[in-house]
Amino acid sequence: MPLIEWGPKLAFGIRVIDHDHRMLVDIVNAFHDALRGGESHRVIGSTLDALQRYVREHFRREERLLANSPFPYLADHIARHHELERMVADLNTRWAEDPDSVDARGMHQFLKDWLVNHIQQCDAAYVAYLKDNAPGERPARPDNDAEPDSGTENDTPVSVVVRVPRGRVPTLRSAADVLADGGRRADQLEKLVSA
Ligand SMILES: [Fe+2]
Ligand SMILES: [Fe+2]
Repeated sequence: MPLIEWGPKLAFGIRVIDHDHRMLVDIVNAFHDALRGGESHRVIGSTLDALQRYVREHFRREERLLANSPFPYLADHIARHHELERMVADLNTRWAEDPDSVDARGMHQFLKDWLVNHIQQCDAAYVAYLKDNAPGERPARPDNDAEPDSGTENDTPVSVVVRVPRGRVPTLRSAADVLADGGRRADQLEKLVSA
């Protein structure tokens, strides 16, 4: 049984956010499994790397969406994100340098509690403000704990490698952020480049 069960209590019915949260749940579960399975220091370290990267990616995406919404508590929300980012970065560094100093079992419980509480309390507070603005918003399905439906296949984020002049890299990154967030701005960008 996974440490955290994905289900209706964690899903908001906002596609881009649910996808990110589910990824975070999967990574925390993978960290837990790696510890329980007695995986190597390197394997556990790579799940922590993945967690650190995805936490940062998700938080920035969520903050961009909130900044474009009427959500009134953004500064406080960002502060909570920074707090977890610091803790995950610290955990990762300590694991790399001195794994014996890490209470790993206490840490996966902490990560579970933090993630579940943050989603159910802090993130839940913005749902009403995002419903009109978030990309891919759809009403929550009663069976929201089921696998994502096939209609979302085209929306599944993928990594691509492209070659562009060095000076265009910041523009490319900004465009990728807009496309990853989806919604009206992504539609406008798509129209612009397809014209
Ligand atoms: Fe959040
Ligand atoms: Fe979140």
